[in-house]
Amino acid sequence: MLELKEVSARIAGVPVLRAINAEIARTSTAAIVGRNGAGKTTLLRIIMGFVPFAAKGSVVLDGKDLSRVSPHDRPRLGIGYGPEDRVLFPSFTVEENLRFPCEVIRMPTKAVDRRMDEVLAIVPELAPLLARSAAVLSGGQAKMAVLGRSLMVGTRLVLLDEPFQGLAPVLALQYTEALKRLQGARPDLTILITESNRSLLKDIPSVTWTLERGAMTVAGGGSGPRGSLPEAAPSD
Ligand SMILES: Nc1ncnc2c1ncn2[C@@H]1O[C@H](COP(=O)(O)OP(=O)(O)OP(=O)(O)O)[C@@H](O)[C@H]1O
Ligand SMILES: [Mg+2]
Repeated sequence: MLELKEVSARIAGVPVLRAINAEIARTSTAAIVGRNGAGKTTLLRIIMGFVPFAAKGSVVLDGKDLSRVSPHDRPRLGIGYGPEDRVLFPSFTVEENLRFPCEVIRMPTKAVDRRMDEVLAIVPELAPLLARSAAVLSGGQAKMAVLGRSLMVGTRLVLLDEPFQGLAPVLALQYTEALKRLQGARPDLTILITESNRSLLKDIPSVTWTLERGAMTVAGGGSGPRGSLPEAAPSD
């Protein structure tokens, strides 16, 4: 379970997140929906420990307070991150980009090979791209590669920041299918997806939170089966 306790952040003197409290169960796919500038990226960066700004409160994963774990050690806990920007190393191939977070945490090569097979079964569109330079990928292909890279280490918690933004419909469909395979392949995984446009998420989340004016509230779902549509969804 992922717990956010009184998480607050100020950027350039402006409060962005105000005492957020949330519990996100293991096995659930949670969506955080908020307008541009609502603080979605800020919240994911706090969970990852990338905070060059004032932040308070605590993030607890399966009972462990992450403030005691340095950001570069968090992937070792099984936390994967797919940032919103295109952040692949352009001088690496796609395969090198995927392997990189595993190498950073010194995973044995055989284990990395196995992880790669697992990820390619979830995101098969990556197989023909592996030998290509990351520099030549389209925006949509890069999003798939960022998803794959987050899954190379993300066995307990995966954070995906606006993965559907700018994806062409056919790629959005492939991405959705990949997430469904992921839910099936790693049933214990907690998946956290941010979006500004709720409709892009279709029936992927089992619970949806709304981030507005620095506060986070449950907008729907929560008790239904994994992947069920959120109920009561107040419109923007
Ligand atoms: N480096 C920065 N300097 C000043 N303000 C910042 C900086 N980074 C973020 N902010 C401000 O913090 C607030 C939250 O930003 P954040 O990027 O977390 O929002 P977001 O919900 O991810 O938005 P988007 O949908 O555009 O990605 C915004 O008002 C933004 O203008
Ligand atoms: Mg953002």
